[in-house]
Amino acid sequence: MLTDSQVRQFHDDGFCVIEGAVEHDACAELRTRAIELVEAWEPGEQRTVFTTDEQERSSNLEFLASGSRIWCFFEADAFGPDGELRQPKQLSINKIGHAQHDLDPVFERFTYTPRLAEVAHDVGLADPLVLQSMYIFKQPGIGGEVGCHQDATFLYTDPLSVTGFWFAIEDATIENGCLWAAPGGHRTGLRKVFERTSADPAGHDTGSTGDLTRFRVLDETPLPTPPDDLVPLEVPAGTLVVLHGLLPHWSDVNRSPVSRHAYTVHCISAAAEYPAWNWLQRPADMPLRRLDGVTA
Ligand code: FE2
Repeated sequence: MLTDSQVRQFHDDGFCVIEGAVEHDACAELRTRAIELVEAWEPGEQRTVFTTDEQERSSNLEFLASGSRIWCFFEADAFGPDGELRQPKQLSINKIGHAQHDLDPVFERFTYTPRLAEVAHDVGLADPLVLQSMYIFKQPGIGGEVGCHQDATFLYTDPLSVTGFWFAIEDATIENGCLWAAPGGHRTGLRKVFERTSADPAGHDTGSTGDLTRFRVLDETPLPTPPDDLVPLEVPAGTLVVLHGLLPHWSDVNRSPVSRHAYTVHCISAAAEYPAWNWLQRPADMPLRRLDGVTA
């Protein structure tokens, strides 16, 4: 599937860009399905999640459980001071995560393809398991920034293996908050890991079952500073960007009137160890599946 120069770009830069990787119809079908999921989603009491500390904590629990669910996360700027949505629900959701690739037939069909398995093979990912998926809306006007990070911070394996597959479902431009990446940055170390813990911020054990989270610093070297240290990846709909798990990347706010939908899939190698302190844990009856569709 990949050309020699695309494979070389992945190894040299830590990412490669494959225009025309997905048919227009497949993008349109996924987009329609994502909007249907949001329309059918009833947030209930989560409607006001961002207004108090107590509710933030419950929101965190929903996040931790979302590795085996389909959950809609609001944009931070979606709510006014009165706790009510500023605009319709369909224009207020930041993303859908993190298991729609296993729970929704349309997402499943888009994700588990021989083509994507071939791309994973071409960039050297052995025995890929699909760990998570996200449908990101980057809503017009309120689409939030995603700070510069390395994906291995959030999806750690030993040895490191996480690889991101980022599909532009709509055109991505500087104006609507496209992806930015630091070429060659994947040859630097992992700065930190995001882990479950039962300790509170003061280090006292709460006796909980690991439903708190914290960052543990591994390397104090700062990540590249956006936007000057990164390059913008402006790509048309249907493009696939493959991202090395150590590659620093970032996306800006979207203050434009145009949305920037994207779908991401993160895979790890079945040969690597996946620690139990990773935030994303799947129940025993929902094992990870191989990208080629065979249960691991
Ligand atoms: Fe990322």
